[in-house]
Amino acid sequence: MAYFAWTDELQVGNSFIDSDHQKLISLLNQLHEAMAQGQGKNILGKILDELIRYTREHFKREEDHMQKIRYADFAAHKQEHDKLIKEVVDLQAKFNAGNGMLSVQVSGFLRNWLINHIMKTDKLLASALKQAAA
Ligand SMILES: [Fe+2]
Repeated sequence: MAYFAWTDELQVGNSFIDSDHQKLISLLNQLHEAMAQGQGKNILGKILDELIRYTREHFKREEDHMQKIRYADFAAHKQEHDKLIKEVVDLQAKFNAGNGMLSVQVSGFLRNWLINHIMKTDKLLASALKQAAA
């Protein structure tokens, strides 16, 4: 059983957003599993890099779509994205500078962040995208 299982409740009803989120969740599961197995700094670092890279790519995709429809909540939504990226990059810097330990609080924090962001902010975006396409 995965640490963070995809459920229908997480579905926002937009195909690119939903498939991006599934990929993010799978990367987070990889990170969690590698931590649980006590993998070394090299492997953890690589998964963390990929998680950050993919998160940036995903956020950019959402932001491009928001701009395309002149989304009214663009600024607030982007602010949530920017804040998360900053926190994760800070975390990565600490990880790179330190002994290669990541606490399980990291995956817990990321999981909660994703759930909250998807359930509120991204669901609003998905319905606005749907409306704009209609
Ligand atoms: Fe988002």
